Amino acid sequence: MRISNFNGGPGALPAEVLEEAARDMLDWQGTGMSVMENSHRGKKVMAMVKEAENDFRELLGLSEDWAVIFCQGGASLQFAMIAMNFAGPGGRCDYVNTGLWSTKAYKEAQICGAKPRLAASSEEDDFNHIPDAFDFDQDAKYVYITTNNTVRGTQWKKFPKGAQAPLVADMSSELLSRPIDLEPFGLIYGGAQKNVGPAGVTVAALRRDFADKARLDVPSMLSYPIYIKNDSMYNTPPVWSIYISGLTFKWLKNVVGGLANMAAINKAKSGALYEAIDSSGGFYHGTAAPGSRSLMNVTYRLPSEELEKRFKKEAAQNGLEGLGGHRSVGGIRASLYNAVAQEDVQKLVDFMGEFQRKNG
Ligand SMILES: Cc1ncc(COP(=O)(O)O)c(C=O)c1O
Repeated sequence: MRISNFNGGPGALPAEVLEEAARDMLDWQGTGMSVMENSHRGKKVMAMVKEAENDFRELLGLSEDWAVIFCQGGASLQFAMIAMNFAGPGGRCDYVNTGLWSTKAYKEAQICGAKPRLAASSEEDDFNHIPDAFDFDQDAKYVYITTNNTVRGTQWKKFPKGAQAPLVADMSSELLSRPIDLEPFGLIYGGAQKNVGPAGVTVAALRRDFADKARLDVPSMLSYPIYIKNDSMYNTPPVWSIYISGLTFKWLKNVVGGLANMAAINKAKSGALYEAIDSSGGFYHGTAAPGSRSLMNVTYRLPSEELEKRFKKEAAQNGLEGLGGHRSVGGIRASLYNAVAQEDVQKLVDFMGEFQRKNG
């Protein structure tokens, strides 16, 4: 029996994707072996990677002005790659600090010798909202944001204007959950293991005129131009992770019907949960400011840590898994990634009502 999976990442994957992968496991495309055992330079694997890229492009509406690559090293490696490729030693770059992951990206830029600077931060308010006033450095090479803050449950609704430089965005915990107007962006990326596929691959899209500005004094495996030039095959790519991500892209296209449909479903899911929180008379208390609430990670508290502990335990006994908040903040977090169904959310909402009746 499949449980309701609210894990923050790795997160839920569509059952159809897992079933197809299971069917293909011993004999992928008539090769008599799994996709993992095929040569990455073989025609079939090359075609599979290209198809994944094309489906990703189609979903996001990315023209040939954009390069799409599959990287390794998780989302965390992008923190350094971005600074090394686009700022370099002493290079100026702006960061908007909206929580743990942007703090890490900022620090990594410092380690790489760049000169990052805060254009805005919500740290003083415990990262409970997305800032709406910015102090941009007009000489910055890029402006770095985290579009969905997995830990704090906040999400950008509209993107900042007024910067000279292109936006560079960590979209790990919302990639492909809604259509995005990519006009202000130079680079977007996301670690696959939240909304897209297994850990091990990070999908990045770079506007080619921005990619052309990358420095060339960067080690090969950290260089965007090397990934682009070699179609993500400079070395052995994480074929399995790309393959599962590719199946998820097909699921999004063919079963869900694209990102506008996905966004409507995600809105309905998170709406039902926020409604349950807001109508609980304060028993459940959302931690994100209403205007900044994430459609992907719904974070909330109960009246005591002891009740939160019991909540998580009883939820798990009822087939509702992964509801613990990130270890840096505690509380409850329900991650409603694309593969989490409306019925899963309804089960959680029903459970919350029942739990409040017993403990409120
Ligand atoms: C927004 C965001 N960025 C980056 C990361 C780090 O990802 P990885 O473990 O792939 O390095 C996470 C992981 O939870 C995340 O939520």
